[in-house]
Amino acid sequence: MKYFVANWKAHKNLAETEEWFQIFKEKLSQNTKIIDALQQNKLQIVICPPHSLLSRVHELVTALSLPNIAVGAQDVSSYDEGSYTGEDAAKNLEGLVKYVIIGHSERRRLRGETEEEIEKKIKRIQARGIEPLLCIRGTEDKIVEGVKFIVYEPVHAIGTGENEKPEEVLKMRESLHLAPDIKFFYGGSVNGEDIASYLGSDRIDGFFIGGASLDPASFVDIMKV
Ligand code: PGA
Repeated sequence: MKYFVANWKAHKNLAETEEWFQIFKEKLSQNTKIIDALQQNKLQIVICPPHSLLSRVHELVTALSLPNIAVGAQDVSSYDEGSYTGEDAAKNLEGLVKYVIIGHSERRRLRGETEEEIEKKIKRIQARGIEPLLCIRGTEDKIVEGVKFIVYEPVHAIGTGENEKPEEVLKMRESLHLAPDIKFFYGGSVNGEDIASYLGSDRIDGFFIGGASLDPASFVDIMKV
């Protein structure tokens, strides 16, 4: 199973989301390889829109009527449900998402997210049966116990077009000493051209795609399964 996670970050409004799905649906219907891979459990797609669009994206994904396409959130509150204006607690995401991105380097950098908060967030969503996709920048970031998905995103490779070479990515996997059942993803400037070099390795289980996921055609083009 290969995972392809579209991380839209703070892009798109409602109209652009509708348009994205219209084209996505069209592109998928022309691509029997992807449809087969989805149906044979060889491919998992996760679409992570901004929180404001989660509900609509959940409807649009459901309307595709295809297996192995899930919705993910890009963050969750470290608070439980309650009087926390403006927060999205794990409970608020229930029924909408299967995954939540936790600890993305943009949040660690821009929001000063700490390891303590990250651990709290992981616990909150796990308690509701939602899987964390824990992003790490390298060996300096903590791998929280019980997390099944680790996403290696070297900061220099995010949004720069300077993707990290597969050999380096694999070296990182080795240095992390992950248990064999943990899935290891790579993210950082993945596009339709460089994807082939990563797909050769069964030690890389999936990919985070930021910039290239904003256009449904280029997102579909990356899934060379
Ligand atoms: P990028 O972003 O593909 O635009 O480099 C990846 C990410 O930050 O998840």
